[in-house]
Amino acid sequence: MTHSQRKILVTSALPYANGPIHLGHMLEYIQTDIWSRFQKMRGHQCHYICADDAHGTPIMLKAQQLGIEPEQMIAQVQQEHEQDFADFNIQFDNFHSTHSPENRELASDIYIKLRDNGYIKSKTISQLFDPEKSMFLPDRFVKGTCPKCKSEDQYGDNCDSCGATYSPTDLINPKSAVSGATPVMKDSEHFFFDLPAFEGMLQEWINSGSLQQEMANKLGEWFEQGLQQWDISRDAPYFGFEIPDAPGKYFYVWLDAPIGYMGSFKNFCDKNPGINFDDFWAKDSTAEVYHFIGKDIVYFHSLFWPAMLYGANYRQPTSVYAHGYVTVNGAKMSKSKGTFIKARTYLDNLDPEYLRYYYAAKLSSRIDDLDLNLEDFAQRVNSDLVGKLVNLASRTAGFISKRFDGKLAQVSDNSLAESFIAKQEQIAEYYESREYGKAMREIMAMADIANGYVADQAPWQLVKHEDKQQQAHEVCSNALNMFRILVTYLKPVLPRLSQDVEAFLQMELTWNSLATDMTGHEILPFKALMQRVDLDKVASMVDASKENLQVTQAAKADNKAPVLDAKAVSGNPLEDDPISETIEFDDFAKLDLRIARIAKAEHVPEANKLLKLQLDLGGETKQVFAGIKSAYAPEDLEGKLTVMVANLAPRKMRFGMSEGMVLAAGPGGKDLWILEPHEGAQPGMRVK
Ligand code: MSP
Ligand code: ZN
Repeated sequence: MTHSQRKILVTSALPYANGPIHLGHMLEYIQTDIWSRFQKMRGHQCHYICADDAHGTPIMLKAQQLGIEPEQMIAQVQQEHEQDFADFNIQFDNFHSTHSPENRELASDIYIKLRDNGYIKSKTISQLFDPEKSMFLPDRFVKGTCPKCKSEDQYGDNCDSCGATYSPTDLINPKSAVSGATPVMKDSEHFFFDLPAFEGMLQEWINSGSLQQEMANKLGEWFEQGLQQWDISRDAPYFGFEIPDAPGKYFYVWLDAPIGYMGSFKNFCDKNPGINFDDFWAKDSTAEVYHFIGKDIVYFHSLFWPAMLYGANYRQPTSVYAHGYVTVNGAKMSKSKGTFIKARTYLDNLDPEYLRYYYAAKLSSRIDDLDLNLEDFAQRVNSDLVGKLVNLASRTAGFISKRFDGKLAQVSDNSLAESFIAKQEQIAEYYESREYGKAMREIMAMADIANGYVADQAPWQLVKHEDKQQQAHEVCSNALNMFRILVTYLKPVLPRLSQDVEAFLQMELTWNSLATDMTGHEILPFKALMQRVDLDKVASMVDASKENLQVTQAAKADNKAPVLDAKAVSGNPLEDDPISETIEFDDFAKLDLRIARIAKAEHVPEANKLLKLQLDLGGETKQVFAGIKSAYAPEDLEGKLTVMVANLAPRKMRFGMSEGMVLAAGPGGKDLWILEPHEGAQPGMRVK
């Protein structure tokens, strides 16, 4: 290699310590891990640093709910996070917590510098306060009726129903989501970071070049709207760090979260005396610092964070790399569809290298969302990794072991392998610029060429002829050498497979050894390197991810299983949920289906899935609890006609009797549609 060694610090965003890692998160950790492994493989000094983000109101309240101290909860969650990451082969050099002594010290240090440099202002503001819990309420912890569309039970910052955004004080009939009390307005002094003072410096940082175009555009818009003072303090009770010289005031979680990158790195330096904190963070540092983040947190990383660093006399990040959001089967991850998949649920069912490859194959340097289509996922992995890559070794290695003493031959025509090696700078450039999809396509195109060569030469035929042994030996050796080069290129993406290949080839795969002459090299007998993706496993992962089994159970008891059980694998209802076995007319006639008018629909306060319906059958009224709250607002149903099973045995539920069921289709969540007859049908009419 011709380049000199670079000093690189790379981070992924710090996951919140109040919930499990899911496959959306994993996109970021996989993307960063590939990049960091690539840099290390190229011989650079690269440190991959992360931590749990342990502060804030949601974490404080969740711990309260669990009846444990926040310290205990974040310690447990951190352990789970670290295990998930380790099992996905995410190779952090350090994983720490923002609730650490290092971070406390750095946060105070940065704050005091900002304050002493005149960048902190104080101002009294009025906010909603929960008089029962004696705490100020973040927007997300106020619920009430949307001022626009009048939907009930909406958050304090925006309405799920009509999409309106507003301030929590605009809500009709606001309630504290913590205690249920009616909040009151209360004054309090807050500290503000003077972001507008950094406009010039931020413009310069943004123009310095290495930001993504989409991000630069977004930042341009924000500048046009004008930068605002940033509220960085929160009043007790709060789980976080108390602000120096301000008893009862705490740093807002987003102040000390990015400082957590430094805190974790400081912790790492203290354990590794050869690595110097200031080399990476001092104003005059020549090291490179990159933050990989999701598109939702660009504002924090490209405005607040560089400005804070600048105001406290530290260096700025070299760049911030944002990625898009993961969707599953074309839609937002959904608990009811079973597509909100936790890292652990995935690991219980499938090989982590499948996902590492699939994400790599679909990643680019842009901020586009990325769809994890589970069918495409299975197909792509099976065709590329099993069908192309592993196949290259599995159909040639056996001959080397059985017929040629496990030793590779001298290959007279190395032109194919050489053409692969000639691609190394191109591949490296793709990794460097986060164009992993292009790198994967390039590598798979080589795998196609190599497989074509093996198919043409057909060593399985050659070995049958006494006089073609030498040729068979050469073909298999050539194929394995090409396989070695491809696996070397894939090593940042597939660390486990690479390790197994290193054991099998009895050599370390490094960028520097790409051009190694393999003549006479001895290999071990071939062992299976990767199984095909098993679609049943994909389906059980989706099943295990379905939220709220209790509701699914209730639905099953109501014979409504098909509605909530439809598999989310292919998106084709008949394929996922085939037509049931044939029944006789008499079986059907047992069902008494009636037209019903929804006379009344209301929420059931204790149930988060159910609506209570009063169904008018033209004289008689029946009460039914239906699991359709995720898809319908009660007021949208009242007065409508639908179809009900009128002779279903009544069932006692926690909230009262349910005397039948309404008919609906769809996988669940928002995707649920109840049946409605054509105009003219009257309540009580039999459906037959
Ligand atoms: N704690 C903050 C980050 C602080 S960094 C100083 C946070 N945590 S998070 O747990 O919500 O998200 C961690 C990272 O995962 C973020 O970069 C976020 O964008 C990313 N993702 C979370 N859900 C995601 C998807 N569905 N898809 C892709 N990335 C996602 O934000
Ligand atoms: Zn609304």
